[in-house]
Amino acid sequence: MDKILVHGGYPLSGKIKVSGSKNSALPILAATLLTREPCVVHRVPDLSDTNYMLQILMYLGAQVERASGTVTVTAEKVNSVAPYDVVRRMRASVCVLGPLLARCNEATVSLPGGCVIGDRPIDLHLKGFEALGAAVRVEGGNVKMFTPRLKGAIINLRGKFGPTVLGTDNVMMAAVLAEGTTVIEGAAAEPEVCDLADFLNKMGARIEGAGTSRLIIEGVKELHGAEHDIIPDRIETGTFLVAGAICGNGVTVTRAEPKHIESVTTALGNAGYNIQTTKDSITVSRNGASKPLELGTEPYPGFPTDMQAQMCALLSTTDGMSVVTENIFPQRYMHLAELKRMGAHVQIEGPRAVIHGVEKLLGAPVMASDLRASAALVLAGLKAEGVTEISRVYHIDRGYEHLDEKLGELGAHIERVKTK
Ligand code: EPU
Repeated sequence: MDKILVHGGYPLSGKIKVSGSKNSALPILAATLLTREPCVVHRVPDLSDTNYMLQILMYLGAQVERASGTVTVTAEKVNSVAPYDVVRRMRASVCVLGPLLARCNEATVSLPGGCVIGDRPIDLHLKGFEALGAAVRVEGGNVKMFTPRLKGAIINLRGKFGPTVLGTDNVMMAAVLAEGTTVIEGAAAEPEVCDLADFLNKMGARIEGAGTSRLIIEGVKELHGAEHDIIPDRIETGTFLVAGAICGNGVTVTRAEPKHIESVTTALGNAGYNIQTTKDSITVSRNGASKPLELGTEPYPGFPTDMQAQMCALLSTTDGMSVVTENIFPQRYMHLAELKRMGAHVQIEGPRAVIHGVEKLLGAPVMASDLRASAALVLAGLKAEGVTEISRVYHIDRGYEHLDEKLGELGAHIERVKTK
């Protein structure tokens, strides 16, 4: 198991390139199961999560070729059963449910396990499949589904915490091959959902309304192969911008999509940082003293829950009182206990974190609990005095392509060490 040592206090500057989006790549790779023809997907980030997804596709019978960022998947024959051992390592493996049901009229997929960021049910996914005419049972830790033929329906997928991203993806992937028209109300409008809809439309699907809360899907008989470029990872973009804010002398994030991360650039602007954008790059630099913030996570285009932890790291050394409210996953605060070990002053009050900025953080041994929490600890370590030793870094490798090397190019001093 690797550890990361962050030597704090080195200013960052220069340019850094964003990778393709993890959360687009995962459902798009799953969608390749919908056709027998080859699909070519470019800019697939090299992450443990994308590697798990490719292993799942191979287990299900697909042929996979990978040459740097380009992945070719040919799913000529598909088997519809994905057992626990194959899917347990990644929650996003649930997004093979929709494609398997559409392609095979049946699917048995083991349920994903618990997750440190909170209870992560899939009831809305299953409600959508049932509405399309599938008989759904949960038995022995598996979701079992069967249908003689999927039929279009009107489905509302909005849950008590708002829309569901992978639920929308899953039901959309099932509906593209259903007979007739499906309307998904309360759909997620995240850029990753739009990217999947674009890919499906290139495969011959007929989806309208992506990027709004209402998707209209005319079912087609079959889909064909397609070629696609994954969109830039907006959360990686935001993470680098916060790195630039936390200890930068001018950091430019390139190959980015500024529109997708406006809520974060607006928040950084409100916190007193200078933000400049071009068509595909964003520069963050200091602009005098930084200011505390009040912000809440929301579905897109609101402030993303996947940037909450990184923002807490920034605010923990911003003078004054900041209040962060987590509205999507109200228990997603594991990083705060670790930030406190570095000297942050934070109280958790239900879904709110009240942060009193301190002058400095001190390096300490800390433990990564999930992907974004680990990114927050790296960011805090960049600013802290001394060395921050982060264990369980496999969480970082799930979703950030070579984070330590990329930050190193900006001047960060980060070492990766092997432990027994
Ligand atoms: N929810 C339900 N029932 C469901 C599904 C979701 O109640 O059937 C609730 C969730 O518990 C949560 C809310 O709805 O309170 C939103 O969850 P959502 O379904 O949108 O989450 P997800 O699709 O499972 C994706 C990302 C997450 C990101 C969330 C929210 C992927 C692979 N994962 O998860 O990304 O936090 O949307 O934007 O796309 C990450 O990348 O670190 C990550 C956790």
